[in-house]
Amino acid sequence: MRTFPDGFLWGTATAAYQIEGAVAEGGRKPSVWDTFAHTPGRIENGYTGDVACDHYHRYDEDVELMSSLGLGAYRFSAGWSRVMPDGVGPANPAGLDFYDRLVDALLERGIVPALTLNHWDMPQALQDRGGWPDRATVDAFVEYARALAGRLGDRVRLWTTHNEPWVIAYNGYGEGSMAPGVRDWKAASRAAHHLLLAHGRAVTALRALGAPEIGYSPCVIPHRPATDRPEDALAARRANELIYGWFLDPVFHGRYPRLLWDRFAEHGCLPDVEDGDMDEIRAPIDFLGVNYYMVFDTVDDPDENGPAGFRELLPPLPRTDCDWPVHPDGLRETLVEINREYRPKAMYVTENGASYDDPPRANGVVDDPRRVEFLRSHFAAAHGAIEAGVPLRGYFVWTLLDNFEWIWGYNRTFGIVHVDRDTQRRTVKSSARFYERVARTNTLP
Ligand code: FCB
Repeated sequence: MRTFPDGFLWGTATAAYQIEGAVAEGGRKPSVWDTFAHTPGRIENGYTGDVACDHYHRYDEDVELMSSLGLGAYRFSAGWSRVMPDGVGPANPAGLDFYDRLVDALLERGIVPALTLNHWDMPQALQDRGGWPDRATVDAFVEYARALAGRLGDRVRLWTTHNEPWVIAYNGYGEGSMAPGVRDWKAASRAAHHLLLAHGRAVTALRALGAPEIGYSPCVIPHRPATDRPEDALAARRANELIYGWFLDPVFHGRYPRLLWDRFAEHGCLPDVEDGDMDEIRAPIDFLGVNYYMVFDTVDDPDENGPAGFRELLPPLPRTDCDWPVHPDGLRETLVEINREYRPKAMYVTENGASYDDPPRANGVVDDPRRVEFLRSHFAAAHGAIEAGVPLRGYFVWTLLDNFEWIWGYNRTFGIVHVDRDTQRRTVKSSARFYERVARTNTLP
C-alpha cells in the first residue's frame, strides 16, 4: 500500500473548447479551434466543439459529480475567446461571470480551482492579426490574464499560463496539423518565442494581482534513440529539445537549448529575440506542471519535423486505443529527471490518462479495466518519484468527461465518466470509482 503526502491534490483536468459547447452564447466569439474544426477535412467525421459536453450549461452538475467522487481539485481552462471575444479588451462580462460561477461552485464543494489561461483556443480575431508569430499577441495575452486575475485572483489557487505550448507553436504553425493549421517553421519559432514571452509577462502580471500559485504546463514526451547510431542519439536530443527543452530551458535557465538553436539557425528559422526578453521569460514560478502520456523511439530523418529532423517510431510496448505507447515508469523517470534539471519549487502532474473505448454494456454499466490499470500503474510511478525526492503536490487525471479530442473529434474517449453524445447523460465508469477510492484515502490500494 502506498500513501501520498498530506494535502496531496487529486483532481481531473479539462479544457474549455473540449467540453463547454455554447460557442455562440454569452458573447463568446470564434477561436482558432472553431475555425479549424469547421474547416472540411481537419477533424475526423467533421466533428466540432459546438456542443461538446454542454458543460457551459451543465457545469453545476459536473462539479457535483466531481464532489461525489471525492475529488479535491479541478484543472480547467478559461475560453480565451469567451473572455476576450475580440482578442483585445474590453473583457466580456458574461464570459467572466461564467468562470466566476464555476469557481464558486467548486469552492462551495471544497474543490481547489486550478485555472489554465491558454489551452490552445486563441481568439480568431487575434489570429487574423497575425496570431502567435506576431509580437503584439504577447500584450493581448497579458491583458487577458489581467482580466481574469482581476476577477478571480483571490479564489483560484493554482494559475497556469500555457498548456503544452509546443502543440501551438509546432503543430499549429510548423507542420499545420492543429489550429490554426499554418505550415511555416519560421512562424513556428516566432510563435514559440512569443508564447514564452507571454508566459513570463503573465507570471509577473498575475503575481502583481495577488494570484496565490503561478505555474506552467508543458508536455514531456521523452524521445529515446531507436538505435545506438550517434545520429539517432542526436535526433532524440533534438526531439526532446523541440517538445520540452525549448519551453523549459528559457523559463528556468534563461537560454534556448543549443542543438535546436543551431538547426533553426541553419534553416533561417531563428526567432527575433529582443534585449531583455530572456530575463522576462525567466520570471520565477511557483510550480511546474508536467503533462505526461508516453515515450517514443527516435531516428534521424531530415525530412520530418522541420529543422528538428527526426522521426518517431513506436517502441515495443502495449498501446492505448489511440496507439499511444504505455510506459508508466517513464513518468517516474520524467519527474525525477525534470526535477534534477530544473529544480522547480513544486510539481504537479497536470495531465495523464488514456484513451480506451469501453462503451456502456446493456445494463448501462461502463467497465474500463484497462484504464484502471493504466491509472494504478502511473500513480505508483508518481509515488516512486516522490520517494526519490520529487516535490510532487498533486495529480490531475486527463480527463473527467469523454469529450472533443481535437483532431479525433469524439472518436477517442479519455474520460473517467462516459458521456452519451445524444442525451449528454453522464455515467461514471469503473475507473472513476477506482479513482474515488484513491482520492478519498490518499492511498494507492
Ligand atoms: C493533451 C492535451 C489535452 C488532451 C490530451 C489527450 O496533449 O493537452 O487537451 O487532448 O492530450
